[in-house]
Amino acid sequence: MKVFVTREIPEIGIKMMREAGLEVTQWLEKRDLTQKELIAYCLNHDALLSSGANKIDKIFLHKCSHLKVIALLSVGYDNVDIEEAKKLAIPIGNTPGVLSGATADTAFLLMLATSRKAFYNHKKIIKGEWEFFDPIVNLGIELSNKTIGIFGLGKIGYVMAKRCVGAYDMRVIYHNRSHNKEAEQKLGAKKVSFEQLLEQSDVLSVHTALTDATKGIFNKDAFTKMKPGSIFINTARGAIHNEKDLIQALENKTIWGAGLDVTNPEPMLPDNPLLNMPNVCVLPHIGSATIEARTAMAKLAAANIIAGVRGEKLPNPVET
Ligand code: DGY
Repeated sequence: MKVFVTREIPEIGIKMMREAGLEVTQWLEKRDLTQKELIAYCLNHDALLSSGANKIDKIFLHKCSHLKVIALLSVGYDNVDIEEAKKLAIPIGNTPGVLSGATADTAFLLMLATSRKAFYNHKKIIKGEWEFFDPIVNLGIELSNKTIGIFGLGKIGYVMAKRCVGAYDMRVIYHNRSHNKEAEQKLGAKKVSFEQLLEQSDVLSVHTALTDATKGIFNKDAFTKMKPGSIFINTARGAIHNEKDLIQALENKTIWGAGLDVTNPEPMLPDNPLLNMPNVCVLPHIGSATIEARTAMAKLAAANIIAGVRGEKLPNPVET
């Protein structure tokens, strides 16, 4: 059995698959595969381990319906047509849980960095603009006892909320389809409507999946309802916020700042106006980029591939 891997991944994942008797081909070029190349490779393989935003859409799935399994090196699966995969009986696996701490840390880092204009001030030193101590410039805002609003309280949102309570005694409110009993009991979290989340959060952190319902939900209307002086954080998917509306909300001072690990499109172009705003911190989608998380993700993805090619139930099937 042959597996195609769309990127270099931690060696442990490759080792596991080889030890299970699989022949592994890796795409090692430092550029994205074109869709045509992806399909051509998959036609010669029995399984696909996909890292990144390869489009696993209806066309791809029909052309590659022979695949025994597709394992994603991510928790997000918005690049996959799950319904079509189900119809074609192609099992899809992802890597939930093991990246929750790393991704929540990225959200926390962006929250703190944005509240103190850290990236902007770092750039000022590089540009030789640190001239003297000025008591009235570079003022940030403090986070202690403020309200953190979590949009999507799943595994990652829970860890972010826990970090905020532990570090800053923040009050937690959240908007989610279902109640999160653990967060309510252990963190005193309160489930609120989307409107209340917008109106009450001092920091609003996005941790939901990208779906038809969440696409562009942070638009002009939502930013207008946000608390003046609040911070918007997105470490989930860039398409959940409307970038033009976010820029306008920051320019008009409707909100105070934004911290983004995800943008739309990715990569963000270097001339993007967000990169020059003092109260904005942007990272290049490094949410789960720790040695620990990526190693664990590679192991989970390899385990999904091994089970899939053997016709066994995947240890981590995508849960919809
Ligand atoms: C994820 O796991 O979904 C991360 O965003 C990496 O794509």
